[in-house]
Amino acid sequence: MIEALRQLEAEAKQELSALTDSQVLADLKIKYLGRKGLFASVSARISEVSPEEKRLAGQEMNRVKQALEALFSSREEAFQLGPEASTKKIDTTMPGTFHAPGNLHPLTQVISDVVDIFARLGFSLVDGPEVETEHYNFEALNIPLNHAARDSFDTFYLDNGKLLRSQTSTVQIRVMEKNRPPLKIIAPGKVFRPDATDATHSFMFHQIEGLMVDEQVSFADLKGVLFEFAREFFGPKTKVRFRPHFFPFTEPSAEIDIFFPSRDQWLEILGAGLVHPHVLKSVNIDPEKYSGFAFGMGVERLAMLKYGVEDIRHFFENDVRFLRQF
Ligand code: PHE
Repeated sequence: MIEALRQLEAEAKQELSALTDSQVLADLKIKYLGRKGLFASVSARISEVSPEEKRLAGQEMNRVKQALEALFSSREEAFQLGPEASTKKIDTTMPGTFHAPGNLHPLTQVISDVVDIFARLGFSLVDGPEVETEHYNFEALNIPLNHAARDSFDTFYLDNGKLLRSQTSTVQIRVMEKNRPPLKIIAPGKVFRPDATDATHSFMFHQIEGLMVDEQVSFADLKGVLFEFAREFFGPKTKVRFRPHFFPFTEPSAEIDIFFPSRDQWLEILGAGLVHPHVLKSVNIDPEKYSGFAFGMGVERLAMLKYGVEDIRHFFENDVRFLRQF
């Protein structure tokens, strides 16, 4: 019997060492250690062993049982750790695999930087729909049908009579419809214009709209807020210039330029002005009592100027060699 036990142990060792799959391991365990397995049937022969041999045979039974159990559990562990672990020892001193943490898209970063600056100035973040009606994109903004001003906001029209907003100024109307002054909001988002794509144009880009309406808001308030923004965003020594301009929904209107010493150039970064009385009337705010300013800036433009990006298409091509740099 002792011989049979030892043979069983040797066979189990051999079968286990050739093993590659955990299902077979489970089957083998039943074959050797199951209730009706080989170990049980060899052990049953203890009743036939002579009294003198019984002690030794009993000891061998216990030893082989423990040896088999240890063998199986070490193989089970190896399978749980994966196929490599059964042949390789794990070197716990090895450095781990480095997974580079991602980073936010440069446009997302610029939007959140700008929103943070205005949040510190007391502006609330709001959102508006990308699919809009002519009312919000044009009429309520004092851009009548068939007016030449529509041409400068060339627009994608949808089959259902709606359109893709060509400016975030739509959000001014949506906010003033639902809220009464005092109002201070900032509204970033996508806008769409059917422009041919080139280094500075894209059919989709981002704007950030700002609006403040209260009693006695003046052009001086607009200047103060935009100077503050420019210095926070581009640096404390930034030079800012207001140039007269025309927008149907602001009067007076201006375009605002920043001086870039590295290029020795003034570059336009946003449009702004005092909210036109017609616009206030369209949302039932009394222009005799309230006044306000509004501005809109192009996010891609800001990002290109701040980071020296030469082609707007880089932002949309998902090339990680570009995106990784921010
Ligand atoms: N909506 C204008 C544009 O897209 C920018 C603007 C916003 C101008 C608010 C004045 C006031 O060009």
